[in-house]
Amino acid sequence: MKTIVTGIQPSGRLTLGNYLGAIKNFVELQNKGEYDEFMVFIADLHAITVSYQPTELRKHIRELAALYLACGLDENKVTLFVQSEVHQHAEIGYLLQSIAYIGELERMTQYKDKKQKQVEGVSSSLLTYPVLMAGDILLYNASCVPVGLDQKQHLELARTLAERFNNKFGETFNIPEPLIKKVGAKIMSLQDPTKKMSKSDPLEKAAIYLDDDENTIRKKIASAVTDSDGLIKYDEKNKPGISNLLTIMSCCTGESIASLEERFKNSGYGDFKKAVAESIINLLIPIQQKYLSILNDKEKLDKILDDGAMKASYFAQKTLSKVKRKMGVGRVK
Ligand code: AMP
Ligand code: TRP
Repeated sequence: MKTIVTGIQPSGRLTLGNYLGAIKNFVELQNKGEYDEFMVFIADLHAITVSYQPTELRKHIRELAALYLACGLDENKVTLFVQSEVHQHAEIGYLLQSIAYIGELERMTQYKDKKQKQVEGVSSSLLTYPVLMAGDILLYNASCVPVGLDQKQHLELARTLAERFNNKFGETFNIPEPLIKKVGAKIMSLQDPTKKMSKSDPLEKAAIYLDDDENTIRKKIASAVTDSDGLIKYDEKNKPGISNLLTIMSCCTGESIASLEERFKNSGYGDFKKAVAESIINLLIPIQQKYLSILNDKEKLDKILDDGAMKASYFAQKTLSKVKRKMGVGRVK
């Protein structure tokens, strides 16, 4: 049985990085159809590990669901649901905490980064975040987890916890494989191409948001930081800005980086940037149009998420009961 599991946090406007590094990959996997179950969720329990506004969160949950569908996920081919609506996620997250060590959680780079940014204090759930994520994955006995490069370390921990659980309590979990795309796994900031494009970047023009309009996209790409040698060549180390734009255009059009280098070898940066902007616009405008109509059809969206949560709960409960039995908690019935 092959199960794919993945999720994204509903923590704000999504960027082109989220699309190219994650959602696009989910849609491609769906369309290949080489799986038995494909669980895609909105990771709202992860979004409360840093400070947030409840009304905003609630809005973002629906928006992310609509966006998944607008990007091409099909509710008949994947199980789409909200993480907190399947209570087994929180429960397995807690159970797995008993086999996760504080030291290994403190070593997570995302924890170290996010910890620095907290003004109200660092919540204990920020530390245990990767354990909840391991639970999300193991609850469905995932064989494969598509994510962007920044989630690789969390996935390694999920594998470690699965192995540790199996050794301690007997064979229970599959060891999940990460699926990280080579091109597009890390889209960089337009203003500092040595940093990843992030939805929490305070500089608005550092990221293309999936709801940016045509002119905003053109302006942001035109002001993207490059270099002064005038060559359109992929060289991550010496030309991170141009390399990032080549990656973006390649992911948006499907044309290889080598072919783009050849096509633009006699062009200036201005013309190249215009072409990059158009490739993004051609990709995003149709998604934006679908997105609004899906978001406005409240009843249909609710039905999809209700059905998804019901189906997910069924699988999740099976695993959770087994986990509790093996761990010796509760009574055996
Ligand atoms: P997040 O926004 O951190 O919830 O990430 C959602 C998904 O998008 C994860 O699979 C990330 O790895 C992926 N992702 C986020 N930012 C980028 C980026 N700049 N480039 C590629 N993938 C990304
Ligand atoms: N932590 C992931 C992110 O920030 C989201 C996520 C939560 C996830 N649970 C998951 C991704 C399980 C894959 C599988 O992007």
